[in-house]
Amino acid sequence: MANTNPMKPSALFTERAIQLARHSTPYRDPIARVNWERLSRNAFWLPEPAISLYGTPEYAALPLDIRHALSHYEFARFLDAGVWLESLFLERLAKAAHTGPMETRVYHLHELREEAGHSLMFLEFFARSGLRDTIFLQQYDWLLTRLGRQLPFRSTLFWGAILLGEEVPDRLNRYIRLHAEGVCPVAVELSVLHSTDEARHISYGRDILKARLDASGSTTRRIFAAVLSMLLKRFVTTFYYPPESLYREAGLPDGPWAARARANGTRRLFVAHCLGPTVTRLRGLGLPINWP
Ligand SMILES: [Fe+2]
Ligand SMILES: [Fe+2]
Repeated sequence: MANTNPMKPSALFTERAIQLARHSTPYRDPIARVNWERLSRNAFWLPEPAISLYGTPEYAALPLDIRHALSHYEFARFLDAGVWLESLFLERLAKAAHTGPMETRVYHLHELREEAGHSLMFLEFFARSGLRDTIFLQQYDWLLTRLGRQLPFRSTLFWGAILLGEEVPDRLNRYIRLHAEGVCPVAVELSVLHSTDEARHISYGRDILKARLDASGSTTRRIFAAVLSMLLKRFVTTFYYPPESLYREAGLPDGPWAARARANGTRRLFVAHCLGPTVTRLRGLGLPINWP
C-alpha cells in the first residue's frame, strides 16, 4: 500500500517530534508528584481482578493479608520488569542522542528523561515499600533483552518491539487507573503518571511503525506480524505471569501457583481484555497479529 500522506515520512516525524516534545514540557519529576505518605501495605496494590490467581478457588481460600501480599509482590514485579525494559530503551536512546535530525534528537532526549523519571519513581517505591530486600534483580526474557540491545535503532522491528514493550505494561496501568477503588492510592498514582507519559511514547512509536508499514508490501507485513505475534506473547508472559518464586516470596503455601495462574481461565480473559485494544490497533495497521 502506498503512503497517501502528502508529507514525506521524514517531514512527518519532524512535525510529530516537535509536537510531542512540546507536550513533554515543562518536565515535572514524578517522585516529587507522588504523595508517598499514603503508601500502605494494608491495602491491595492491584485491583483484585488484576491478580494472576483471581478467579481460582485456591485464591478465594487465601486469607486477606496473603491476598494483599500477593498483590504487593505482583505489582512490584510489574514495576521491576518495567525498570528492566526501560533500562534497555535508555541504553538505545542514549546512544542515539547524537544522531539524526535535531528535532527527533530533542524528542528522544525527552523520552529518555521521562523513562529515567519512571525508573527512579519505581526504585523510590521499592525503597519506601519495605520490599526492597526481596526485590528481584531478575533476568527477564533473554530474547527480548538481546533484541532490545541489538536491533538497529532505525529498523522497523526495533520500533515494533518498542511499541509492544510500551503497550503491554501500559494496558495494565490503564486497568489500574480505571479500577482504582480499594487500591492503595500510591500504586494508582504511579500507574497514572506512567501511562500519561506513555501515551506520547506509544503515539510516537505507532506513527513510526505506520509510516514504515505503509511503505511495505503484504508479504513483508505478514512476516513482520508473525514476528510481532511471537514477541507479544513473550511480553505478556513477562508482565502478566509471575514465576513460582514470587508466590513463595509473597507467603503462599506450596504451589504449583505459577501453573495454576497459567491454567486460570479468568486470567486468560483478563489478559485478553487488557491487550484487546493493542491487538486491534496493530491489525488496523495491516498486521495480521496471531492472538491470543
Ligand atoms: Fe516508562
Ligand atoms: Fe515509554
